[in-house]
Amino acid sequence: MTNSLFPKHFLWGASTAAHQVEGGNHNQWTVWERANAERLAANAPERYRHLPNWPAIKEQVCDPHNYISGNGIEHYSRYAEDFKLVKALGLNTFRFGIEWSRLEPREGEWDDTAIAHYRTYIAALRKQHIEPVLTLWHWTMPTWFTDKGAFEKRQNLHYWRRYVKKVCDELGAGVSYVLTLNEPNVYASVSYMEGRWPPQKHNALRMLGVYGNLARAHRQAYEIWKKRYPKARVSIAAQLANGQPRSRYNPLDRLIVCFTDYLWNWWFLDRTRGQLDFIGLNYYFTQYLSWRGLRNPAGPLNDLGWYMEPRGIGRLLQAVWRRYKKPIIITENGVADTTDTHRQWWIAETMQAMQDALRAGVQLEGYLHWSLLDNFEWSDGWWPHFGLIAVDRTTMQRTIRPSARWFAEQIKKL
Ligand code: BGC
Repeated sequence: MTNSLFPKHFLWGASTAAHQVEGGNHNQWTVWERANAERLAANAPERYRHLPNWPAIKEQVCDPHNYISGNGIEHYSRYAEDFKLVKALGLNTFRFGIEWSRLEPREGEWDDTAIAHYRTYIAALRKQHIEPVLTLWHWTMPTWFTDKGAFEKRQNLHYWRRYVKKVCDELGAGVSYVLTLNEPNVYASVSYMEGRWPPQKHNALRMLGVYGNLARAHRQAYEIWKKRYPKARVSIAAQLANGQPRSRYNPLDRLIVCFTDYLWNWWFLDRTRGQLDFIGLNYYFTQYLSWRGLRNPAGPLNDLGWYMEPRGIGRLLQAVWRRYKKPIIITENGVADTTDTHRQWWIAETMQAMQDALRAGVQLEGYLHWSLLDNFEWSDGWWPHFGLIAVDRTTMQRTIRPSARWFAEQIKKL
């Protein structure tokens, strides 16, 4: 990369989420996995048969074990080894989640061993000079909290505040970057509207209620954290889609894009803009929309069948900057790509788009790839592979993918 515009202290890193890597969790997701694994395996042909890699994934997706997070990739016990890999890739930042259900397994009872674990975990990152980015909530919750209705009820925010205060007191001294919530829009819509994820509701009003309460949850967590640590940088990880009109000349297509942009991208950020020190941006999707619905090009597609347009992040970076004038950190970005066919191209395109954005004056401060390691991909289970590092779940052996080596070389050259 010639004439790099990346600032000297740019955060180069990778992201993970507690439930997707740790193993041994007990939360509302693990309960749901056990109750739904058979059904998901039986319906797998309906969901995946259209994918070009169907012959390769068929056996795994029709096996109920695919849908159980189980011992994860044992990151909870192998984190020291994983941090060495972060270093080996030349990364200086690592995003991780802490698991509420471990810290407060029963209402009001804190597990000191779990607290000590995360304290040691953060200290281990610091010791290696890796900047920790802590996520407080990445969709999983203790079952006692979801039994009470979780974020469906405004009065439950009392438990959330208590959790945030506790984490802030116990772990706050070790972290400068905090993401309170991961992708509230995805959680609200997939869990409460589409009904594909727990608690599997199909209720637009409920969805809006949850969405609103998550905005309150963020604002409250922000105030709690900043009161104690005014210098900490607190935000959310927002999943933003690059919506484009199928036809630039069709006013209806353009109207649909404005409407979905507002609902999906801006609604939450507009309501929390006073409590965001930067914008955490997760990017996976460019969507060409027409008044008749989604009209994406036929390819290229990743393993999950998602249309790939990595440069689409460029338009989003500019749009976010124009609208909020706040620094941006890309908190997730990546592809499901078992054979590592597209990942290098995806990262190269993204780096180019980032350079263009920097040239245009966007205050971009970091790039965290999703994910460091192959991990548990929610209701799709174990088969999609997003990792810079492949993981063999039988031996738990980690192997750096060629694209990741290439990425490491690019960072080194900057
Ligand atoms: C989520 C991750 C997930 C990734 C790939 C993001 O929306 O935050 O947990 O693994 O997408 O699907």
